[in-house]
Amino acid sequence: MRMYDIITAKKRGMELTDEQIAYFVKGFTNGEIPDYQMSSLLMAICLKGLNSRETATLTMEMAASGDMLDLSAIEGRKADKHSTGGVGDKTTLIVAPIVAALGVPVAKMSGRGLGHTGGTIDKLESIPGFRTTLAPEEFVKNVNEMKLAVAGQSANLAPADKKLYALRDVTATVDNVSLIASSIMSKKLASGSDVIVLDVKTGSGAFMKTLEDSKALAEAMVEIGNRCGRSTYAVITDMNQVLGRAVGNWLEVREAVEVLQGVGDPELFRVCETLAKFMILGCGIAKTSFEAHTMIRAVIKDGSAFAKLCELCDRQGGDASYLWNPEIRGEAAVKYPVKATKGGYVKSINTEEIGLSALMLGAGREKKEDVIDPLVGILVDAKIGDRVEEGDVIGTLYAEDEETAKAAAERFLGAYTLSDEPVARVRAVYGYVDADGYHEM
Ligand code: URA
Repeated sequence: MRMYDIITAKKRGMELTDEQIAYFVKGFTNGEIPDYQMSSLLMAICLKGLNSRETATLTMEMAASGDMLDLSAIEGRKADKHSTGGVGDKTTLIVAPIVAALGVPVAKMSGRGLGHTGGTIDKLESIPGFRTTLAPEEFVKNVNEMKLAVAGQSANLAPADKKLYALRDVTATVDNVSLIASSIMSKKLASGSDVIVLDVKTGSGAFMKTLEDSKALAEAMVEIGNRCGRSTYAVITDMNQVLGRAVGNWLEVREAVEVLQGVGDPELFRVCETLAKFMILGCGIAKTSFEAHTMIRAVIKDGSAFAKLCELCDRQGGDASYLWNPEIRGEAAVKYPVKATKGGYVKSINTEEIGLSALMLGAGREKKEDVIDPLVGILVDAKIGDRVEEGDVIGTLYAEDEETAKAAAERFLGAYTLSDEPVARVRAVYGYVDADGYHEM
């Protein structure tokens, strides 16, 4: 087999065989196929596309290129969730304990990643002592004993994807639905769960800016998951504004605790409840949506979902007293209110800009080596549809010094567009995709 022939076939719009796909994934991962040939094939894929069989094969080959987590020692159907990423997305901290409290095993591998704020791992590590490096045996043991473990992704999870993604990033070949879907799903397949619930964000702070693009990505990922024998659902949720109010690692943990204590942001709760619902439906714990909602609300009301987060914290070396009494963790040195410079209704918020102002404060990483400051971030007050008057506080920045806060405040304020006319609020959840297609919610 020759890479040249594979490139030629795709350039002419032909369907690649499973053998051809396995050949280039293996060859590129082990260094036998050079970057220039792989780049050429990636561009041909962007121009001519992959069908669903080719996409599923590519995903399975990338998943099998490194460690495949063996969860067979864990009893019952295991559930996992994944978000395509957004600003203020703390859903894992809420959804995983809810689902685990209902008896569903959640073996969660999470990324650190680059971005406006840290990933789930960074958020959990903002709890003093919390340890996210677990040996595979400890990871499996914890899920068996308490239904929940959260650990950093093994460095050898889908290495083919890691290498391909780095190449896509510099060859203008990231924005292809099949390539994005296979990249995300390869890591989910390698993580071993039976049920996969995807949170596909849509809007100004998301990877996918339009509902149409988000639906296409959701459909592609659900198709891959189901073809590969995993029960897969995708929920399409809003990212035209921050999810909830908090952006920044410790601030987000605090907000997650509020939701688990039943007093959190209603929109954030709605997103989490929807994701948790599909996880427990997929695992067969609930038979109907109504039953699932009732069960989820019960574990919030009786405190067992919050107790599960505390148990996770204790088990992984953290001190749960910080969850019970968040005030003892302290706050960033400066609390800087950002005030509206005129009155109006909030028409739109460039959420990526809000994320970038959090990044300026030190809440996330631009480069892998950057160190996150767990206490800095933003609490957002004004959301789409709200009426604000000149001088009203629209958000508070938590910063380490006044100068950084001032620069970030300018960016934060610039993200808002106001209108004289009343503006409708946006929905938190748009719909979901299952094996039968898209359903509006
Ligand atoms: N996230 C991924 O993991 N892969 C992509 O291709 C895009 C976003």
